[in-house]
Amino acid sequence: MGVIARYREFLPVGPSTPEVDLHEGSTPLVPSRNIGRALGLSRLFFKYEGLNPTGSFKDRGMVVAVAKALEAGSRVLMCASTGNTSASMAAYAARMGVRAIVVVPSGEIAMNKLSQALMYGAKVVALKGTFDTALEAVRDLTSRYPVALMNSINPDRIQGQKTAAFEVVDVLGDAPDYLLLPVGNAGNITAYWKGFREYHAAGRSTRLPRMVGAQADGAAPIVAGHPIANPRTVASAIRIGNPASWEGATSARDESGGLIAAVTDTEILAAQIRLANTEGLFAEPASAAPLALLFRLVMEGKIEKDSTTVVVLTGSGLKDPDAALKNVEPPIELDGDARTLAKVLKL
Ligand code: F0G
Repeated sequence: MGVIARYREFLPVGPSTPEVDLHEGSTPLVPSRNIGRALGLSRLFFKYEGLNPTGSFKDRGMVVAVAKALEAGSRVLMCASTGNTSASMAAYAARMGVRAIVVVPSGEIAMNKLSQALMYGAKVVALKGTFDTALEAVRDLTSRYPVALMNSINPDRIQGQKTAAFEVVDVLGDAPDYLLLPVGNAGNITAYWKGFREYHAAGRSTRLPRMVGAQADGAAPIVAGHPIANPRTVASAIRIGNPASWEGATSARDESGGLIAAVTDTEILAAQIRLANTEGLFAEPASAAPLALLFRLVMEGKIEKDSTTVVVLTGSGLKDPDAALKNVEPPIELDGDARTLAKVLKL
């Protein structure tokens, strides 16, 4: 069952909304086995969004936005993307038989995300510039032509993405104390906060979490308090200098008593490897940013040891193997039999 069927009563869908479903959502909330213990946190969980049908959380919002676009009669869908949004939009467009056009910053997106958009049959334009320039062009174009804008400024995207907060509460039985996630264009932090508030208002939880957002040092406009013209970070998914949902992010932070802070690329890659090596969870670099921030916050004593903490792993590590491979030993090249193998392996 996808998120529309599962959370229908909380979504802006009705009898005339077409059925769209790739069985997105219902991703596991995996308890930490080793990192929590090492940090002294008794209740640390990972929301493993990489297990969505196209490998990131984007499917939750896209399924609702595509259903609503079809309901409104759209036949051409368009988005700007650092990769995951385009993969997701292209998949749902393919399934529903409508055109998909994606604009990505040229040379800036992970190979496997690009291959997804192309395989699902989207028209891909690699535009010179940053994600922010791509989004500006897409906003402009979709305001002039009968083409549906599928970025998270489309409120239906936020509606769908809030279902991740519902799932966290459904599994834990209440909201966590802290929810940590990466912040790029800032749609997701906006969506989680909306989801937690709506569930709370509906009596499904007794409290609200503190929202903790992680940006990358070279792409941290919200932390800096002004747009960044040339965002730089290894975490290409959140290489964004002027988030569209800026206000949604700062409201989530301030209303929840949370914080948004930046971590370095070195911290991001160290967290990514530690997560894979000690938990068996492979997430893309952007998804490791909140974990890197968690390490720092625990060290600074800012997170109580008995708190319930959820880190959202927004995208699969398989999305961006190039970023990961730079940081591990290459395979051992060998021409030999079991004996030479045993010798090399020091068994
Ligand atoms: N993590 C991943 C894996 C992402 O792909 C994104 C955003 C984020 C975190 C940040 O979420 O933008 O809602 O604050 N990716 C967008 C894209 C920008 O085009 O795929 P956000």
